[in-house]
Amino acid sequence: MRAYHLLSLLPSAEMATFLIVLCLSSLLFPSVILAAPPRTPIDVAFQKNYVPTWAYDHIKYLNGGSEVHLVLDKYTGTGFQSKGSYLFGHFSMRIKMVPGDSAGTVTAFYLSSQNSEHDEIDFEFLGNRSNQPYIVQTNVFTGGKGNREQRIYLWFDPTKDYHSYSVLWNMYQIVFFVDDVPIRIFKNSKDLGVRFPFNQPMKIYSSLWNADDWATRGGLEKTDWSKAPFVAQYKGFHIDGCEASVNEKFCATQGKRWWDQKEFQDLDGLQYRRLSWVRSKYTIYNYCTDKSRYAAMPPECRRDRDV
Ligand SMILES: *[C@@H]1O[C@H](CO)[C@@H](O)[C@H](O)[C@H]1NC(C)=O
Repeated sequence: MRAYHLLSLLPSAEMATFLIVLCLSSLLFPSVILAAPPRTPIDVAFQKNYVPTWAYDHIKYLNGGSEVHLVLDKYTGTGFQSKGSYLFGHFSMRIKMVPGDSAGTVTAFYLSSQNSEHDEIDFEFLGNRSNQPYIVQTNVFTGGKGNREQRIYLWFDPTKDYHSYSVLWNMYQIVFFVDDVPIRIFKNSKDLGVRFPFNQPMKIYSSLWNADDWATRGGLEKTDWSKAPFVAQYKGFHIDGCEASVNEKFCATQGKRWWDQKEFQDLDGLQYRRLSWVRSKYTIYNYCTDKSRYAAMPPECRRDRDV
């Protein structure tokens, strides 16, 4: 139920009545309008869900794999990927970013299908000089087409503690969360002619590498190799998705899993308020409002406005 769409159509007296009815109905039928945050992730060991992808000797395992360190030095970065491929679900990682002088480094956590017209859901954490803020860049590719960058600052120092970064993906929406705060939504706007990832299973990837040609202040700040090795720390490794083979088109359980249910099909009022707080206070760049790139606001952006 899209209460926020209806509301904007109603004059204020009717609006008041509507709100009262809405409140009453929420008491009687809580699930009608109350959404819920995704299920709390459960920490598991790295090897349950992941394998290293490259530079195996630059991944360090601690406490039986419940904690993993990715190491970047002047020879190489490193990365890992999920064993399985998934169609829809909830994917979460706890990460403590490279501390100190991390300028030029990028830590990424993303979902991607493995074909040419690929779908991809990206978090990229751009390092910075000591005590300068990280940038979180997100992007969504559908059918090989991206160009949907958003960039924000965080409201905390991501190098001091572990924080969770997660993606909720179902037929209705893709939500990027930082801890419990939704920082971005990408709603299914198929009816407006926008492709939505729904039939290409994705693997989950993470990596740490040198990107000093673009990452920090647009490439002006170079990686200081005298500060190497750079280390990003990981925990959590939570995957709760519908496992599909790479070629399989649909999950047998689609529509029946917890993330398909009503309360996960849209954000609730509190989540929308948090999203607007992030948008208004922490946004650096949003393709949705970049008129030099998109004269008309891309359709999916019109849909993801808040109440
Ligand atoms: C790094 O710090 C500078 C100066 O505070 C800032 O302009 C920039 O956005 C920060 N982040 C990155 C990744 O460049």
